Amino acid sequence: MRKILLAGNWKMHGSKAMVDTLLNALLSASKPDDGVDLAVFPPFPYLQRTQNILRASVIAWGGQTLNPEPPGAHTGEVCAPMLLDFGCRYVLVGHSERRTLYGENDADVAWRFEAARKAGLEPVLCVGETLEQREAGATEEIVSRQISAVIDRCGIGAFDSATIAYEPVWAIGTGKTATPDQAQEIHAFIRDKLGRLDGIISRQIRILYGGSVNRSNAADLFARDDIDGGLVGGASLKAADFLAIRDAIL
Ligand code: 13P
Repeated sequence: MRKILLAGNWKMHGSKAMVDTLLNALLSASKPDDGVDLAVFPPFPYLQRTQNILRASVIAWGGQTLNPEPPGAHTGEVCAPMLLDFGCRYVLVGHSERRTLYGENDADVAWRFEAARKAGLEPVLCVGETLEQREAGATEEIVSRQISAVIDRCGIGAFDSATIAYEPVWAIGTGKTATPDQAQEIHAFIRDKLGRLDGIISRQIRILYGGSVNRSNAADLFARDDIDGGLVGGASLKAADFLAIRDAIL
């Protein structure tokens, strides 16, 4: 049985005060036997603060991206050993904002996934189609291509310690959520694709849904067979909103 993972991607939001308020509220509302795993993805400058607050807790944290190169002359970049140094368990790779705003292509994403795994981080591979691609009936083709790029580089075995997040680009930050049926259809497609290569990995891997998840839609989404939790943007920035999602699915 896969345990639900509720992960908050803060994107480029936060301040020292916000981190303290939010994380202390999550901390006091979480218990080891909750039935839901929680994780947060703060911007890099707040990782140390996050580690200080969450270090003895069951809440995990991770980086929002990484540079796949080893330590060296890469001004402005952050590599996997640095994320490990701050206690990260996870790292997002291939978020659609990285792909569209910062030019990461499938090959870049696969390289990041490989670097994360080699360093001992658990990558959360984000995939998803644009509205144009959905309307052209290309959703499965796009998602399949994004996942194949990683399998081709890293092998299916690399997914034994990884998570996939299906985030339709048209649903991110728009208030438009995929219906549970739409999301389940693609999640099942992804699991089936992995299952053709490795049945154990396909049954154990968590596939999260992301895109305007909130307290009203989470329970219906996460009740579906192949939806194992959520990667939440806007509704993860306030403890009350994030915890309301968790409480809706408990
Ligand atoms: P929203 O929940 O704000 O739509 O963001 C989703 C997302 O991009 C999470 O990574």
